[in-house]
Amino acid sequence: MCGIVGYIGEAQAAPILLDGLSKLEYRGYDSAGIAVYDGEEIRVQKATGRLKALSELTHDGATMPGVSGIGHTRWATHGAPSNVNAHPHYNQDKTIAVVHNGIIENYMKLRKYLEGKGCQFVSETDTEVVAHLLARYYKGDPLEAVTKAMHRMEGSYALGIIFKDHADKVYAVRKDSPMIVGHGKDGNLIASDVPAVLKYTRKVYFIQNEEIAALTKEGITFFNVDGDEIAKEPTTIDWDVNAAEKGGYEHFMLKEMYEQPQTVKDTLNPRIRDGEVVIEELGMEDGEICAVNRIHIVACGSAYHAGVTAKYVFEGLARVPVEVDLASEFRYRNPILQQDDLVIIISQSGETADSLAALREAKARGIKTLGIVNVVGSSIAREADRVMYTWAGPEIAVATTKAYSAQLIAEYLLAIKFAQARNTVSAQEVEGLLRDLQKLPEQIEMLLGNKGRIQHFANRYIAAKDVFFVGRGIDYAISMEGSLKLKEISYIHSEAYAAGELKHGTISLIEEGTLVAAVVTQEELYKKTISNIVELRSRGAFVLAVTNTGNREIEKAADYVIYIPQTNWYFTNSLAIIPLQLFSYYVSVGKGCDVDKPRNLAKSVTVE
Ligand code: AGP
Repeated sequence: MCGIVGYIGEAQAAPILLDGLSKLEYRGYDSAGIAVYDGEEIRVQKATGRLKALSELTHDGATMPGVSGIGHTRWATHGAPSNVNAHPHYNQDKTIAVVHNGIIENYMKLRKYLEGKGCQFVSETDTEVVAHLLARYYKGDPLEAVTKAMHRMEGSYALGIIFKDHADKVYAVRKDSPMIVGHGKDGNLIASDVPAVLKYTRKVYFIQNEEIAALTKEGITFFNVDGDEIAKEPTTIDWDVNAAEKGGYEHFMLKEMYEQPQTVKDTLNPRIRDGEVVIEELGMEDGEICAVNRIHIVACGSAYHAGVTAKYVFEGLARVPVEVDLASEFRYRNPILQQDDLVIIISQSGETADSLAALREAKARGIKTLGIVNVVGSSIAREADRVMYTWAGPEIAVATTKAYSAQLIAEYLLAIKFAQARNTVSAQEVEGLLRDLQKLPEQIEMLLGNKGRIQHFANRYIAAKDVFFVGRGIDYAISMEGSLKLKEISYIHSEAYAAGELKHGTISLIEEGTLVAAVVTQEELYKKTISNIVELRSRGAFVLAVTNTGNREIEKAADYVIYIPQTNWYFTNSLAIIPLQLFSYYVSVGKGCDVDKPRNLAKSVTVE
C-alpha cells in the first residue's frame, strides 16, 4: 500500500518529507512525490521509480523551500506507475494538493459527476477525484470542504491535504487506511506508519476512522466527520524502527495475515455495484465471455492452489470447463489450445518466470489471455490481453497470505461475472453469493481472533517430521495451500492429498501420532471425508479437522476441531485457510525459523 508523510513546523519541510518517505520504502512503491507550500504556491515534484530519483530531482529537497508539505510513495492500484499518476494530486487551479492511501470505491461515479461540473482530470487515479471534490466543497473553510467530501467518498482512504489559502495547516483524514499524527518539538507530522516519524517524535496520536486532524506548527486539533472538535490522548511509541515497520507485529507475515480482512474488502467492494459484478479493467463484454469455450488457469505455488479452487467455482457457477496447470508444466507440454479458449495467469508478483513464459506461449498461439495480478505494471499485467488486479498492496513476507486471499476473491468475482454473462445463475443466486462474499472480511477477522488456541495447538507439533493435509474437492485445494504454508516457513515435510486417494498407497505412511489436517468444508462430501478420517485414526493418526460451524458429527471422528463460520461452499477456502496459515506461522515461530525470509526461497521466482 502507499506511504504518506506530512510536516508543518519551523524547519524546511522537503528534507523531512523525503526522510519520512525513506522510512516507508519497505512498504513497496513504484513512484513518489512531494508538495510544499513555498509562501505563494503549492509546488509539486514527482518521480517514478525509487525515492532516490525524487531526492536527486529536488536536490534532497533544497529546491523546494517551505515549512509545510505532504509527501507520498505510490503503490499503483488505479492507473499504471507514471509521473502523471504519482501523488500528490492537485485540483484544477492547484490551490489544493492531496496524497492518498487506500481505494475510493466510488471514484468513477464521482469523476463523472465532477467532469459534469467542468473538472478536467489529468491522471487515471482515484485520488485526483479527492482533490477536485475538496475544491468543489471549499468555500473558504477547509474543514467544511473535508467533511463534505468525506460524506461523498466510499471506500478506504488516509489523506494528507494542504490548502494554499490555509498553508499554516496540514490536514489528515482517515477511513480504513492507517494514519498517525506525530507531535514533535520542532513541528508536527502525519504519516501512514510509525517508522516515518520516529526520528522526530515518539509521541503519536492514532487517528480513528472518520476522524480529521488539523496540524499547525504549534499544535494539533482533532475533529469528527461532523466537524466537531474531539479530544484525543497521545501514545508514546516504544518500538524500535524494525518493529515499527511491522506495525508492532513480530513478522511481516503476521501483519499481512491480519491485513486480510482489509485486503478482501479492497479487492471485493469496488467491484460490487448495485448487485452486479463490475470489473472495470477487465474490458470483456458479455459476448466475449460467452464465446469462451474452455478456461486454462496457469500459475505456480500458492497462485496455482488458488487456481485449483477457481476450477470448482468457474465450473460450478459458470458451467465452463476449466483446466488448471502448473506454469512450469504448461509451457513445455505442448498444450492443446483452441482459438476460443481463455488462458488465465494468476500471479502476485506478475514476474514469475514460468508464469510469464506460459503467458507468452498462449499469446504466441493467438489465445486470449487474462492476468490476475497484484503488482500493477508488472510484466504479466502488461503483456496479458486483459488484467484483473488483486488490490492486496505490497506483500513483504515470502510466504503469501493476503495476496492469496485476494486471488481467491478475484476468482470468485470473475466466476460470478462469467455466470451472469452466460445466464447460468439467477439474480437471486447472485444476490446470495455477493452477500456471502461481503461477510468474508468480518468472518476472517473473527478467525484471526482465534490465534491463541491455534498457537497452543501448533506448539505441540514443532518437532513433527511429517504432516499430511487431506480433503476432497475444494477442500483438497485448501489442503494444498495449507501444506505449502507449513513446508515453506517451518521446513517440516508435508503433503496434501486427495482424501479419497489415501488408500491407494499413501496411507501406509501413517504412523502412531502422525498429524493429519483434514479439511472438511464441503457439506456434500462430509461423510466421505469423515470415513477417511476414521481410516486414518484407526492407523494411529492424530486428526485435526477444519470444518464448518454446525458440523457436529466431526467431533466423534476427529481428535481436534477448528470451526469456520458458515459461508457458501464455493468460498470456504477464504476462511479455512486462515487457521492453517496461523498454524504454520506458529510452528515456524516455535522452531525459530526465519518466518518472513525462509531459507532457499525468493518472493518472486524470476528464474526457471
Ligand atoms: C507462496 O507462499 C510462495 N511465495 C510461492 O509459492 C508463490 O505463490 C509462487 O512463487 C508464485 O508467485 P507469484 O504469485 O508471484 O507468481
